[in-house]
Amino acid sequence: MHYRKLGNSDLNVAEISLGSWLTYGAGVDAQQAIACVRTALDIGINFIDTANIYGRGTAESFLGEALNGVARSSYVLATKLFFPMTETDKGLSASQIRKQLDDSLKRLRTDYIDLYQCHRYDPETPLEETMKALTEAVNSGKVRYVGFSEWPADKIQAAINMPGVVRFVSSQPQYSMLWRQPEKDVIPLCAKNGISQIVWSPLAQGILTGKYLPGQTLPADSRATSASMGYFFRKELLQDHVLQSVQNLLPIAKELNLSITQLALAWVLREPNVASAIIGATKPEQVKENAGAAGKKLSPDIIKRIDAILAPALAKAA
Ligand SMILES: NC(=O)c1ccc[n+]([C@@H]2O[C@H](COP(=O)([O-])OP(=O)(O)OC[C@H]3O[C@@H](n4cnc5c(N)ncnc54)[C@H](OP(=O)(O)O)[C@@H]3O)[C@@H](O)[C@H]2O)c1
Repeated sequence: MHYRKLGNSDLNVAEISLGSWLTYGAGVDAQQAIACVRTALDIGINFIDTANIYGRGTAESFLGEALNGVARSSYVLATKLFFPMTETDKGLSASQIRKQLDDSLKRLRTDYIDLYQCHRYDPETPLEETMKALTEAVNSGKVRYVGFSEWPADKIQAAINMPGVVRFVSSQPQYSMLWRQPEKDVIPLCAKNGISQIVWSPLAQGILTGKYLPGQTLPADSRATSASMGYFFRKELLQDHVLQSVQNLLPIAKELNLSITQLALAWVLREPNVASAIIGATKPEQVKENAGAAGKKLSPDIIKRIDAILAPALAKAA
């Protein structure tokens, strides 16, 4: 495994990290999920991402159980808050930060979170209240570092400008060969301010593995066809011209002795501001294959060729 420093923190995180949205504690059978987590730890994946909202607490509870007995200092644990846990328990107010943090700690069976993330910006709470509550969480020792996910650039800048409060070290945007929006302003702003990207859906939920083939029935046992995990699938990516573009990456992947999946992960890691690609995995073999992307470098010529192949898909899908 290869590791990168997370923003202005002293955390070194694996270039490929393991997420738990839709999968663990929910869509994937518990034994299979435990096998994925063990495989990840065995191959040096030291960074695990979850959120209170995943399965409304079940992903955190699953991880609390799966990581029980694993030396706490051997992995970096990230979770998040914002989305409604009940009709009234939601957002980033000071009281919610205190309550949701304590609930997450209990479910995760730990007394600290390495990276506590604001899952979205909360327009209903003054930013200063949120930042002060995050500062209090860090000062209490329950949280080591803080981050955000999908915040607009002006709100990121406002947090950076605020005096006397804790500094964000991470940003968690969607980012993949087929979703490049963060390149516009979030990545440049973060790069200047000691904030790394830890990116979600780097495989576009599986599309960038190349297993969805144009003109063919969707594979059974995949997220696109899963009743429990397919709800948020980006159906527009299942158009034949998008799937064909992904297939057209195969010669490049072969040239580099990589799978299309590994090429897609190496592509997000080509950006120096990306500290880690957070993958989802339903099977231990996926964890192993995806981890193989760590440390793989793509030349400027390869990147140009990838862009040319994906240009039509990007124009229509993004
Ligand atoms: N901050 C946010 O708002 C936000 C939003 C979404 C996700 N996230 C985080 O990002 C993590 C990753 O998101 P994601 O699950 O959408 O990521 P992804 O890596 O793009 O997609 C994961 C899915 O692709 C399929 N897959 C992965 N590797 C494969 C392989 N080698 N071969 C074949 N299929 C493979 C698996 O689904 P099947 O086997 O079922 O096809 C897997 O569950 C989440 O777990 C979560 O921690 C954050």
